[in-house]
Amino acid sequence: MTVKTLAIAADHGGVELKSAIIDTLKKRGVEVLDLGTDGSASVDYPDFAQAVAKTIIDGKAEAGILVCGSGIGMSMAANRYPQIRAALVHDRLSAELCRQHNNANVLCLGARLLGDATALDCVDAFMSTEFEGGRHEGRVAKMSCSV
Ligand code: RB5
Repeated sequence: MTVKTLAIAADHGGVELKSAIIDTLKKRGVEVLDLGTDGSASVDYPDFAQAVAKTIIDGKAEAGILVCGSGIGMSMAANRYPQIRAALVHDRLSAELCRQHNNANVLCLGARLLGDATALDCVDAFMSTEFEGGRHEGRVAKMSCSV
């Protein structure tokens, strides 16, 4: 995926992993918009999912990464926005598949479930894998439809 600018955010459960991801992305030459949080004080993950979603929807970033304790709350919150396809992944293969088949534009990670090495491997797969299109195009388009 070609990403010039990426928005990232975490709740208090994902602050340290967020820092490691930012370092990795900067080494790749990606411009990173760090939307917080930055400390150990308890915060609400939907606020940070919304911030990343809004940044993508406003065209200020092409992709996003969200980190919380499990990744579950962030993925549920981010997927409330029709333009967002957030994928909670647990390994390199699921990170590749969310790009190849689902054209995910937000990667969600559980800092309390993944070691840093696995999480950074997921980030590498997310950043370097293209959407396959073809038979997946129509399926992905259907996810933006309202009932
Ligand atoms: C915060 O304690 C925790 O609930 C949050 O990081 C996340 O795991 C929610 O899905």
